[in-house]
Amino acid sequence: MAGRYTLRSNEHISNNGASNSYGGTRYMDEVEQRGEECAAKLFGGRVSLKPLSGHIASLLMFASVVRPGDGVMAISSENGGYDGYGPGYITELFSARFLEMPFDRISWNIRTEETAQSIRKNRPRLVILGQSFILFPYDIKAVSDACADSGSLLAYDASHVLGLIAGGRFQQPLKEGCDIMIGSTHKSFPGPQGGIFATADDDVWKSFVKNTTWRIIDNAHWNRIAALAQALEEMRRYGRGYASRIQRNSKSLGKYLSAGRLKCMFGEKGYSMSHQLRMDPSALASMDMNFGSVSEILESNDIIVDTTGRLGTSEVSRLGMGDREMRAIAGMIGEALEGKKVRGKANKLRRGFKLQYA
Ligand SMILES: Cc1ncc(COP(=O)(O)O)c(C=O)c1O
Repeated sequence: MAGRYTLRSNEHISNNGASNSYGGTRYMDEVEQRGEECAAKLFGGRVSLKPLSGHIASLLMFASVVRPGDGVMAISSENGGYDGYGPGYITELFSARFLEMPFDRISWNIRTEETAQSIRKNRPRLVILGQSFILFPYDIKAVSDACADSGSLLAYDASHVLGLIAGGRFQQPLKEGCDIMIGSTHKSFPGPQGGIFATADDDVWKSFVKNTTWRIIDNAHWNRIAALAQALEEMRRYGRGYASRIQRNSKSLGKYLSAGRLKCMFGEKGYSMSHQLRMDPSALASMDMNFGSVSEILESNDIIVDTTGRLGTSEVSRLGMGDREMRAIAGMIGEALEGKKVRGKANKLRRGFKLQYA
């Protein structure tokens, strides 16, 4: 499928009376359709698998609903929001005004009441929930009520938590009142690198189809779409167990790490309800370390974390690891930060787990 094209007729493309611009597309079209149907069962609404990435899905969303001068409210990057929505990036590209969503760093969640008030006062065209660093679900209903009163569209950037949503955990954006859901398909959702767009709103869908046609996208990547359809089917069958395992592992890893020198934040809230954990920078400072140095020390031991203090449990969960392994990983991280070499142990643990296919 790599390198092949298919372009079905739609209201913008006539194809000289033929049903497709290209020949030999029957199976690709069938695979795409089955993938879209599976995604619609998992997420609700109408779903497209065409966006080439989460960022492109977001560009499609902006092109479809935002006009110059419109207000766009999102969580700022200082509070874990996606950098792309902040001033200077996508919002600027579409000549929109960025409005910061009120956020509480203690509970690591939006200030729901203030957010609803701000929406009613500022009447933004688009309100976007979702973060690059996301630990807890939002009160979607309260925000969606405010959006309905203000004529605002409510979107959920599920780039990080799509796998948990697919598994019926965390929260269900479209079913709980969001108009649009976009996301990456390769973070907690264990699919190929790519994007997804879903909406429950007919006008938004029409606008999306128009913008997917020779505007933000020309041809999609059919080998990726086939892999994504396969991953969606996997999530439909096994997603619940996978998503629950991720949540359990995050809580266990947070607990075991916090019993050592490297503390995780938000222990009073059970550390996390997502696939992410946050290292406590003050605990690191007391060891004369920071997020960057920890990342480098761990990488030299074949343990990979990012440089912004996030730890993720998706990959180890998909391999089938559980509480025992979280305890072992926390122990290895602690030893590595004391200067011990744990590369051998890390590789031995990893070698014991292989992806299981049904
Ligand atoms: C919340 C959020 N939205 C969108 C994106 C962009 O996704 P992609 O890398 O698939 O383009 C990211 C990237 O990390 C993200 O964290």
